[in-house]
Amino acid sequence: MMSAYLPMMKSAAIVSAGELGMFHHLAKGPATADEAALACAASARGTRALLDALVAYELVTRDGDRYANGAFITEHFTPSSQPDFTPGLVWTAAAWRMTADLTGAIRRGGPSVSLWEETAKRPELGAAFAKYMEAIATVVSPRILDAVEVPSSARTMLDVGGSHGLHTAAFCARYPQLEAVIFDLAASLTTTPSLLAARGLAERVRLQPGDATRDTFGGPYDVVLLLSVLHNHSHAEGEDLVRRLAASLAPGGMLVVHEHFQGAAPQVFPSVFDLTLLVETGTATVTSEAVEAWLARAGLRVTKRAEIESVGAGAVWVAVRA
Ligand SMILES: C[S@@+](CC[C@H](N)C(=O)[O-])C[C@H]1O[C@@H](n2cnc3c(N)ncnc32)[C@H](O)[C@@H]1O
Repeated sequence: MMSAYLPMMKSAAIVSAGELGMFHHLAKGPATADEAALACAASARGTRALLDALVAYELVTRDGDRYANGAFITEHFTPSSQPDFTPGLVWTAAAWRMTADLTGAIRRGGPSVSLWEETAKRPELGAAFAKYMEAIATVVSPRILDAVEVPSSARTMLDVGGSHGLHTAAFCARYPQLEAVIFDLAASLTTTPSLLAARGLAERVRLQPGDATRDTFGGPYDVVLLLSVLHNHSHAEGEDLVRRLAASLAPGGMLVVHEHFQGAAPQVFPSVFDLTLLVETGTATVTSEAVEAWLARAGLRVTKRAEIESVGAGAVWVAVRA
């Protein structure tokens, strides 16, 4: 029983502390429970219980009546962390509420309301998801850039499901000749203008709100990014998306796919991620064989397959139109 209960409460305590801003407050210096409660608009009693639980999990330290962040928290969930994964905790607080219906999702075979329908109704949810994706992209984006070589002749880029815009910004910084379009659901583009403006890219990057399953993309493009998007679609939608994106490529253009491929035997990350997809979107991870077949049928030739060596970081494939 404890192997089910203790990890659940550890996750709950970390997520609540992130949602309340507790780790950010302690990052300013050690504080008593009363001081932290006041700063985080929480009760003194609840804050003491939370901080003591975090001390027990060795995530927070206590010296007398003063609490401080432990090394792990300082490394990952404070303003000085590179990156600060607090947006992941804030998102996980929302995901936790959805995951409470896991049994229902397993019975039904999917969510009662998909994440995308929910974000369309609640913009703050879309923004929280985009900020979490941006934190992950901070880590993954340099690895994707290392795996992809864009020819100097490339001028136009499309980032499908590009959300926060960090991947587009990274490609535009490395390849100054590129102009880009970020295509995504409107609810996932609310934080993008400020990121692009902060990087001086407001003129080079255009946002195109739309539904990738039915809208057109324009083009032709020299580079198309499809990063962490296929798992949000059914296999039929995924193959259709790959086919339409291949058609939007200029001759010699490249499609860059980043995915969390499912292996032959269940591995922890892709399998657990499939449970998350079941409860949030009703979709599933794909196999690399399936994507390879879609690319071939779309007339693309795979020129690169690169694993990103980090749990949950996935793999990058580059495919080129003849
Ligand atoms: C897992 S996030 C990946 C975000 C970004 N590409 C990255 O790698 O950080 C998936 C993205 O696909 C977008 N998406 C999901 N369904 C979509 C659809 N039907 N049309 C366009 N974008 C969609 C979501 O809004 C979200 O931004």
